[in-house]
Amino acid sequence: MIRSPKDFFRPLALGAPEPLREVPFRPSRMIHFFDPSNEKMAAKAPSIAAKVDVLLGNLEDAVAADKKVAAREGFIAIAEANDFGTTQLWTRVNSLDSPWFLDDVQQILAKVGDKLDVLMVPKVEGPWDIHYVDRLLAQLEAKHGLKKPILVHAILETALGVANVEAICGASPRMQGLSLGPADLAASRRMKTTRVGGGHPGYLVREDPAGDDAPRATYQQDLWHYTLARMIDACNAHGILPYYGPFGDIRDTLACEDQFRNAFLLGCVGAWSLHPVQIDIARKVFSPPVDEVKWAKRVIDEMGDGTGAVMIDGKMQDDATVKQCKVMVELATALAENDDELKAAYGL
Ligand code: GLV
Ligand code: MG
Repeated sequence: MIRSPKDFFRPLALGAPEPLREVPFRPSRMIHFFDPSNEKMAAKAPSIAAKVDVLLGNLEDAVAADKKVAAREGFIAIAEANDFGTTQLWTRVNSLDSPWFLDDVQQILAKVGDKLDVLMVPKVEGPWDIHYVDRLLAQLEAKHGLKKPILVHAILETALGVANVEAICGASPRMQGLSLGPADLAASRRMKTTRVGGGHPGYLVREDPAGDDAPRATYQQDLWHYTLARMIDACNAHGILPYYGPFGDIRDTLACEDQFRNAFLLGCVGAWSLHPVQIDIARKVFSPPVDEVKWAKRVIDEMGDGTGAVMIDGKMQDDATVKQCKVMVELATALAENDDELKAAYGL
């Protein structure tokens, strides 16, 4: 027996705000991670916020155990002291089995629940994890009189999580999206890569032998393609947003751009930036290219009511290609709303 579908849109605690029926689309090309326990980073948070779509205070991995409380308190202080305007404020709390999760969520909702857009929950393994967070958030929203529901973003970073990805996406109307966590996922699956995302030179296919001793070309394959594609389908099946996660080799900006672009082409809306150099990479990659947007507008215009078929520059267009073009133009329009430079470039 499952709950009646009608109940999914009733608050899970008396006095909590009503669940949303759709994930509001707000630009989130880069989710910029900072460590609120690091005073230098915390001081820069307001100026970084002006350059990013999402500012995320990280409380989980990469924050040392003896800094957990300082990170939580630092995040609360930054949220209290600033109004980030159109930039979203997210936090990545510690995992559900950690000694910090409960205090992270309780204190953040008590003090700055009205400023928080999205709670990122790491190491989610199944819908049961989301159900727990869902009820807890409703109780805290009710207790603190919050007016809008906090949305939940899960990191896909365990083998069990991947096995349950569809159920995780559909576990609550709070679900905003999913990020791929290639580091934890590699460990969980016993993959033999020590890199954070990106390719691996050993994962390749080789050209057949030609019968002589001629060298045989090899082609590096994408370690993450299966998981990313599966995650994107699960997210879209449930109307939530998919993101590529971290790319750990900060100096390899070229490979970072490639990884981000693969994710963009497959359907992701953004990626994490772990360092300021990755902010501009994400902005460039996750904003549709100008020539593609112009082409897409032309196809939509020439297709009139969107039905039938026409040839444009020798390429067949029909009802389906109009839909493809609308994906591009709708994304460009949404991004251009907050960005005059993009607006001018797209001619919108
Ligand atoms: C991110 O959290 C990862 O584990 O890659
Ligand atoms: Mg992780």
